Amino acid sequence: MSRSRELRAESDAHVIKCMGDVDMALVSGEGTRVSDGDGREYVDAISAEWVLNLGFRNPEVKQAIIDQLDTIDYVSPVFESEARTELAKKLAELAPGRLEKVLYALSGAGAVEGAVHLAMRATGGTDFVVLDAAFHGRTFATIGMTYVDPGMVEGSNKGLDRYLPRQMRVPNYYCYRCPLGLERETCDLACADYVDFALQKGHTNGPAGVVVEPYQANGGMVPAPDGYLERVHEICRNHEVPLIVDEVQGAFCRCGPMYASQRTAVEPEMIILGKALGGGLPLSATITTPEYSDLLPWEYGFTQAGNPVACAAAIAMLEVMVRDDLPANSERMGALLTERLREIEKDSKLIGDIRAQGLMIGVELVRDRETKEMACEETDRVMAACLENGLMVGKSGPVFGSNGNVIKFKPAVNVGEDEIAEMADLFAKSLAEVEATL
Ligand SMILES: Cc1ncc(COP(=O)(O)O)c(C=O)c1O
Repeated sequence: MSRSRELRAESDAHVIKCMGDVDMALVSGEGTRVSDGDGREYVDAISAEWVLNLGFRNPEVKQAIIDQLDTIDYVSPVFESEARTELAKKLAELAPGRLEKVLYALSGAGAVEGAVHLAMRATGGTDFVVLDAAFHGRTFATIGMTYVDPGMVEGSNKGLDRYLPRQMRVPNYYCYRCPLGLERETCDLACADYVDFALQKGHTNGPAGVVVEPYQANGGMVPAPDGYLERVHEICRNHEVPLIVDEVQGAFCRCGPMYASQRTAVEPEMIILGKALGGGLPLSATITTPEYSDLLPWEYGFTQAGNPVACAAAIAMLEVMVRDDLPANSERMGALLTERLREIEKDSKLIGDIRAQGLMIGVELVRDRETKEMACEETDRVMAACLENGLMVGKSGPVFGSNGNVIKFKPAVNVGEDEIAEMADLFAKSLAEVEATL
């Protein structure tokens, strides 16, 4: 029996699966290469669930982890820890505006909850504005702030309403499928004005903040249109609530700059960080201004938050990103991959839209470019063909109805030209194979 099959049988017996269930084990990886339990190698175009922004087993991150383990492997949050403080200082140095206080957690959702606590404490309000296709996590608090598609989160908040924070939904900024039926050239960002309406009239206990992803990833790989964050920030300032930018996916050169918000002139009151932050280890954080940094004792916190080994990995990752100017690499390689995808689009029946910021790239597949009917089945087939040809890509969008029709590319941000060419070639081959059968 192959190692993949063996592992499958053992995990079916002992592991509760709650986030998908692919019949394949990943057993080793290096850079953008990953191998399965049967010795097959794949080119990883998604940084292992957009977590390993420097690729598998980056030597400098690995060395920092070893060095930290040689010194001290755990420090309780009640004591001072060198790695924890050094990382907070580094995150603040690199962050926009006056973001200088860091609240650590372990997961993206945990960090969102931290931001929710901080915002409620500072404003006295309880209600948050969130976008209708947003994704902010799967804890009791954050599932209420996340999109609801029966196929994806069936039952997840049924009967759990009593745990959920109050949220006010506003229309998404999805220009390719504008929920308001408008065109970007003439819409004057009408979707942003709903935030104003919600902050004025939508709340029952006082607004506490607006939570928004700068590039909606799970929601369909949709970048906020130019000017959107700026407009929403102005609205937040008028209502004296914080703009909380969820960069769990967008930070650390994923969208180009170190922080995705730095694509804009906006200096938000909070940025939420997760996924890549720990260089592969569990670590997340909210970075905020002094005005939003008060908590009551024991109101929030996790025993393992700011674990020094994860912090050491994060510091090493940030140092590599700065030293090697990976924001510039992400922009350059992202432009290259996007250009190749646009060439592929010319001969494609299925590609309806390509949306890119740095190395955060979505390719939306449709059956008909006029009607924009989602090509969900075809997307599954393209993904399967990619795997068969040795390429790993991801999938999301229009909020995963029938499991989505947007192919995701989010390769390591230190990727080179040859790897980008390889990813594009393998995708072109896989897409052509599926399209030949249509
Ligand atoms: C934008 C965003 N926020 C929050 C989360 C939740 O992160 P985690 O799964 O680590 O709780 C995710 C996860 O995909 C995300 O994409």
